[in-house]
Amino acid sequence: MDGIVASASSEIQGAGAGTQPRPAPPCTFVVFGGGGDLTKRLLVPAIYNLACAGLLDDGFSIVAVDWAELSSDILRAQFHDALQEFVARRGTSATVLRDDIWQWLHTRVTYLRGSFEEAETYDWLAQRVGGGNAVFYLAVAARFFGPIVDNLGTSGLTEEADGAYRRVIVEKPFGHDLKSARELNTRLLGTLRERQIYRIDHYLGKETVQNIMALRFSNGFFEPLWNRQNIDHVQITAAETVGVEKRGRFYEGTGALRDMVPNHLMQLLAMTAMEAPVSFDADAVRDEKSKVLKAIHSLMPEDVVRGQYTAGALAGAPVRGYRDEPDVAPESRTETYVAMKLNIDNWRWAGVPFYLRTGKRLAVRKTEIAIHFRHAPYALFRDTPVERLTPNIMIMHIQPTEGVTMQFGAKIPGPTVRLGGVRMKFDYSEWFSEGPSTGYETLIYDCMTGDATLFQRADNIEAGWRAVQPVLDWCDRPEEAPLCSYAAGSAGPVEADALLARDGRHWLGLTA
Ligand code: BG6
Repeated sequence: MDGIVASASSEIQGAGAGTQPRPAPPCTFVVFGGGGDLTKRLLVPAIYNLACAGLLDDGFSIVAVDWAELSSDILRAQFHDALQEFVARRGTSATVLRDDIWQWLHTRVTYLRGSFEEAETYDWLAQRVGGGNAVFYLAVAARFFGPIVDNLGTSGLTEEADGAYRRVIVEKPFGHDLKSARELNTRLLGTLRERQIYRIDHYLGKETVQNIMALRFSNGFFEPLWNRQNIDHVQITAAETVGVEKRGRFYEGTGALRDMVPNHLMQLLAMTAMEAPVSFDADAVRDEKSKVLKAIHSLMPEDVVRGQYTAGALAGAPVRGYRDEPDVAPESRTETYVAMKLNIDNWRWAGVPFYLRTGKRLAVRKTEIAIHFRHAPYALFRDTPVERLTPNIMIMHIQPTEGVTMQFGAKIPGPTVRLGGVRMKFDYSEWFSEGPSTGYETLIYDCMTGDATLFQRADNIEAGWRAVQPVLDWCDRPEEAPLCSYAAGSAGPVEADALLARDGRHWLGLTA
């Protein structure tokens, strides 16, 4: 199936260009867990990219708070190495670290060795931050979220005086289930106002996820078709080739469902299914997301498949099964794959199933949303060699490929009426030449400028957990939540195929 490849046109691009963003106001960016992996792999590269784009003020600085025996100099050297690795790995336009930017950045990094639970740490921070703007980024294990925010509150660091802002970014996992997410919200809201809390879901930092809204609402031809009259079903896939890596202990208590569904997959679903908000105002967008998530019909056990990978092969190399991974129990019943069928009970979507699947150690790495349209009536073709019509599918590719594919039928050249499926593809990288990004740039910049649109509000988080809570309840009763197996490197358990087959449908292939 050869595609028609869209090509860049500066004329069209120019017509859509917006105004250039301005540097964020001065800010002390305090990272709890500042010596950790997330900070080095993602936050510091994102900050570096913001600096390259001229989006940081001269009054910007980083304070990394952590337990480890480090000094500011050692941490700066670690950041430097991490940045070099990042530009070498991800670089497109520039593959070497910009010295001018590094010189600017490194003098702005300070390390504070301290406990997250002792007043001394916060006294020091209060002195350091003074009366200025501050972002507190919680890049720490979830058990510290509550204590850190309590301490920030007690030490007065969350008070916004004289126009200065104080904001807290909370990493995932936000809660372990609906009850704990509610408790955490209540605890944070005991100290902070909702507008000070930025609950992160890194999927919302991905350009292609943000593009779902742009695509749907800035074009005249999608929205009129975007409903149960025209759409047969939707498939949302987040397939990974990686296993649990060094996170066995964390993953044992989490599993694929908690790790990916109430957050990342629900965000993809909300972006795809929400009504058009009246503006890009954070609350207008988040109101619509909440509404659609709350309209998800209560899940039934037969609509869920849980799987765990056994030994298999990926890219020709053997890989071990989940139960043989480090820090995983030999009898573990933790799922590494989950597929489910959801129904959204509202006027736009009633009767249109949304099939979701996510898993580790699958055949390919691929995140995409496929909108399957209803078949056209066949009558016209009944006296021709055409046996069936090509399904119309629109695929929004989130990663690793970024773009949109439209699949439809066309006449195969020749004297008889024969149809072939063709694909028309828009590829992000062919149209736009954006620099390397981690996905955290927008999120950090938005927080510093007070735009919470891409962050989850308390009710969004709770709506995501509410949707999956019935499955979590069954998992406490193993006989009701069977665990299937699939070989590493496959497309997932056969039971997940049966979930669609019983509705006369099938998953799109898991191929690169
Ligand atoms: C994280 C999960 O939130 O998302 C990981 O904890 C998962 O298990 C990751 O691998 C996937 O993110 P991405 O951006 O690689 O799709």
